[in-house]
Amino acid sequence: MKTYCLIMDESNWGLQKEDLALDDVFKLDGAVHEHEYNENEAIIMGNNFAFPLDIAYEKIFIGGKTGSGKSYAAGVMMEEFSRHGLQFVCFDALDAHSGLHTLQNVECISPREDETVNLIKLVKNLKNSNTSLVINLVNLRLDTQQRLLGDYCETLLAEDFEGKPVMTFLEECQDFVPQMGKPFSFSPIVRLCKLGRGKGLGATLISQRPAAIHKEALSQVSTYMVHNVINTKDLEALKNQLSFGTDKETIKKILSGISYSGPGEMVCFSPKYFKDVGYIKVGKVDRPRRTEHGGKNIEVKSQLAPISSNTFQSQPQPVESKSDLLFTEKPHFEASDFNSENELNEYGEEISTYETDYYDDRNDTSLQWDPSYGQETQELETETDNKNSNSMKAVAAVGLFSTGIYLITRGIAKKKTE
Ligand SMILES: Nc1ncnc2c1ncn2[C@@H]1O[C@H](COP(=O)(O)OP(=O)(O)O)[C@@H](O)[C@H]1O
Ligand SMILES: [Mg+2]
Repeated sequence: MKTYCLIMDESNWGLQKEDLALDDVFKLDGAVHEHEYNENEAIIMGNNFAFPLDIAYEKIFIGGKTGSGKSYAAGVMMEEFSRHGLQFVCFDALDAHSGLHTLQNVECISPREDETVNLIKLVKNLKNSNTSLVINLVNLRLDTQQRLLGDYCETLLAEDFEGKPVMTFLEECQDFVPQMGKPFSFSPIVRLCKLGRGKGLGATLISQRPAAIHKEALSQVSTYMVHNVINTKDLEALKNQLSFGTDKETIKKILSGISYSGPGEMVCFSPKYFKDVGYIKVGKVDRPRRTEHGGKNIEVKSQLAPISSNTFQSQPQPVESKSDLLFTEKPHFEASDFNSENELNEYGEEISTYETDYYDDRNDTSLQWDPSYGQETQELETETDNKNSNSMKAVAAVGLFSTGIYLITRGIAKKKTE
């Protein structure tokens, strides 16, 4: 008996090589994640993400692995605050936000080790003006940063802002309210997180390592904005945090969404703001930026002399150095690192160099390789191997052929001379 096999495009049945998109993961439940908003009454981070202005005194967490879009999202938020004339102070540990000073109501200071910041003056100025402030911390040692932050929180809490909200953004906050150890900034930040709301003082904790932030601070958070996380310890920390008042299915969905998200995409969990859509929204932080996003990725250039184009291309090498082992994600690209007009990806980033970004957890044994990246590299290597072995075969054939001709001619010539 003959069997008939109907050949269909497998993609019609949803069979695909790549991972599910973040949206797809969430659409499985048929929930609608879009919503309407009014430009004049909302902090808008993207088509799917808008918040009422009272988010200015909430506790927010922005997380995700390095390069996943945390600072970018925080930048969008600060631009939105500025647009509404709401005030913020940003402790900018990696100089990602100095571009904001081009906004009319935002200023930037960059204290050095030999300078002090008069926090009483700073807080008074916050109270008496409508200006926001970015404090660039890159010139300060970590212990100086911790002291500055601790003193700032205490001075802020001691002031009466008479109902005017002030949001404090804390980049790399695992350095200031760590899970292990108690630096000078620890208690003041916990106090700001616990007591701030009643005084109109918000805090946005930004970190690539939810597992490294102390639970006393993290547990105050009412809105989680999480970009891609793949580290199991960090996923576990988020799971623990979300487990209060969230059902298991929802947690599972959030965590799977988080590990599926691409750069700029986030899963936002907010019982306060997203009650009507099951507490969760997913999507991209796609509000166009009004200022330049900093936190430039470092371009790694070879010190070797440039290779001319007719020599063979270097092969991907096996990972050897310790720093190479720190890359747990696909290489990430930065447009501003280039001047040439090569191919750009969807973010206008050039597709040809590495990012090296700050990653502070060098001893973390739970670092994971991205399996799909490994596969891609392997495939690439095999393909290049095949190409190279084909050209080697061609060269060998030409070589053998010319040696043969040479021997025959020599033989004939020899015979003639005999
Ligand atoms: N929402 C986004 N839209 C467009 N590009 C983004 C977005 N988020 C991140 N990127 C790109 O990724 C890069 C790294 O993002 P960033 O927010 O600095 O990462 P990190 O999570 O380490 O703070 C940015 O320089 C930008 O090019
Ligand atoms: Mg950052």
